[in-house]
Amino acid sequence: MDRPANIPPSGHPAVETYLAGGYDGVVGMSSRFAAAICARLLRLQTEEGVKGPIAEIGAFEGRFFITLAHALEPDEIALALDIFEWPDPGVEQRFEANCARHGIGPERRRTIKGDAGAMAPKDLLAHAAGARLRFIHIDGEHSRTALWKDLALATACLAEGGLIVLDDMLHPGYPTLMVAVQAYLEANPEIVPLCVIDRETIVGATKFVLCQRAWFERYQSRLLEIYKDWIWPLGADFEPHWCLVLSQDTRLAEII
Ligand SMILES: C[S@@+](CC[C@H](N)C(=O)[O-])C[C@H]1O[C@@H](n2cnc3c(N)ncnc32)[C@H](O)[C@@H]1O
Repeated sequence: MDRPANIPPSGHPAVETYLAGGYDGVVGMSSRFAAAICARLLRLQTEEGVKGPIAEIGAFEGRFFITLAHALEPDEIALALDIFEWPDPGVEQRFEANCARHGIGPERRRTIKGDAGAMAPKDLLAHAAGARLRFIHIDGEHSRTALWKDLALATACLAEGGLIVLDDMLHPGYPTLMVAVQAYLEANPEIVPLCVIDRETIVGATKFVLCQRAWFERYQSRLLEIYKDWIWPLGADFEPHWCLVLSQDTRLAEII
């Protein structure tokens, strides 16, 4: 099955196969556009020598998690953290079944049933034999308080060159999440937005990708090459920091 023209290359044959034939069959809330970009970001990290485990807070039925796991190197593992109670306790079994069906065996992942907000960094890292995480997707409870805790956990566990990806940014249903993000960026000046991944639909919402300030230029220069056809020209103004906006629609408003 061919990749649609509105989805950029992911950089991984296994991810391409999953995105083309499996992704829409797994219940979930992230866009294919964002999944392809995040897989490519993992490849970019590999190219830049950044290695290690990854994690998703809010793995749900595994739609996005499976993409990320397929984008790992052979010796890396993915941690799936969720309370696995919503919308019913059967969600954990559905997560396990979806991973098995789409080729992510137990040796490539760890399932962690628990409340991210109550987890200490050392407890999360213990699931990866103490190795710091190179990529963390935060898509758990959508309140300001919970996002603040998830960001603190992610920051404490982040590897050198690591990326933190935040889901449901600028979503009309969760307008206050941006307040937590802004406060977090002000309190953690060593972390900056690397890019905004624009929404595909109201369910496949916008994601922010954050990186360490020391890695910003290096990563951004690569993104400018990789995504030259997907960059919305005006960029995102985080006052005073600017970053790229990656979008399926790169038009500007027509003025006269
Ligand atoms: C929007 S869904 C995640 C969708 C998934 N990431 C995807 O892209 O398909 C949010 C998930 O966060 C989980 N969650 C909510 N609060 C949590 C918490 N405190 N700790 C861990 N997971 C939590 C829910 O159980 C739910 O599965």
